[in-house]
Amino acid sequence: MTRVLSCIQPTGDVHLGNYLGALRNWVSGQHSADVFHGIVDLHALTVTQIPGVIGNNTLQLAAVLFAVGLDPDVATVFVQSHIPEHSQMGWIMECTVSFGELSRMTQFKDKSAKREAEFVSAGLFTYPALQAADILLYDANEVPVGDDQRQHIEITRDIAMRFNHRFGETFVIPEAVTPASGARVMDLLNPTSKMSKSGADDSGVIYLLDQPAIIEKKFKRAVTDSETEVVFDRERKPGVSNLLEILAAATGTNPQKAAETYTKYGELKSASAQAVIAMLEPIQLRYHELLSDRGELMRMLHKGNIRAREVASATLSRAHRAIGLLESK
Ligand code: AMP
Ligand code: TRP
Repeated sequence: MTRVLSCIQPTGDVHLGNYLGALRNWVSGQHSADVFHGIVDLHALTVTQIPGVIGNNTLQLAAVLFAVGLDPDVATVFVQSHIPEHSQMGWIMECTVSFGELSRMTQFKDKSAKREAEFVSAGLFTYPALQAADILLYDANEVPVGDDQRQHIEITRDIAMRFNHRFGETFVIPEAVTPASGARVMDLLNPTSKMSKSGADDSGVIYLLDQPAIIEKKFKRAVTDSETEVVFDRERKPGVSNLLEILAAATGTNPQKAAETYTKYGELKSASAQAVIAMLEPIQLRYHELLSDRGELMRMLHKGNIRAREVASATLSRAHRAIGLLESK
């Protein structure tokens, strides 16, 4: 069975774009492949963290992943820092990639330039080596990623091939795949840019855990246009089209069909709000249930960690043997 790995950093709150564009596909894909989902907390340390925050974020993100429907008996959901092999393999990756290769990573160039006067950690620079470890440890065949991560998968493949060439066949060469396309959700106040947690003003962002009254308010203020016709046309009517796409994704129809049902912007806004509220209600309920029983949530994570560790430790031993490190017994 194809092994698929995708990872997510425990930073920022999960929003409707993440859910409709990614998480919902993870859930529907869990039965057709052997899926591993890592919460990559060590990657978040490349930028300075406030003490005591990241653990909570990790637990909350785990609750979100289970609440949206990942089944701990089917999907392997694990926490990166709970699997020490990531750090161990990370070092081997650092020694297999060159300084020059890492210097060419556009994400590093962008992120370090943006941080200007701030602290730029060496981890921000070696980040792709840790990411390569995440991928190669699990013998992943496929890694679904957006365009911004393609370069990191390319460097992972280069590292894997170089290692295999130097030390013999050890790693599976992964492939970047375009994720099954979910909805592309735009910011409600700025419908020509993607809904994103990094925006300074987040009043156009629907968070997965927003209360119904907040969701209604955000939809009410959604930017439309000065016309009055409800039609789906991304170019000409980005605001209205975004509402139609959200409504369609939440109710399992298509945006063109949804457009036929409404004649007024006000009705479309409130229908979209109600559809999103109804879609999120069971997720929010389950989320709060999970978080109120921390023991059970930790047990669910533990299942994933055990399975992940089994695979990761076998791969690390294989790499150690291939290199010929002295065995400890
Ligand atoms: P990010 O929040 O950017 O780390 O993205 C996590 C996942 O959610 C990635 O698979 C993205 O492609 C997806 N995603 C993020 N924002 C959106 C959006 N506005 N619409 C659709 N998918 C999104
Ligand atoms: N670098 C990815 C991001 O910023 C997160 C990530 C870490 C990842 N390890 C991974 C993604 C392994 C895919 C596979 O979004």
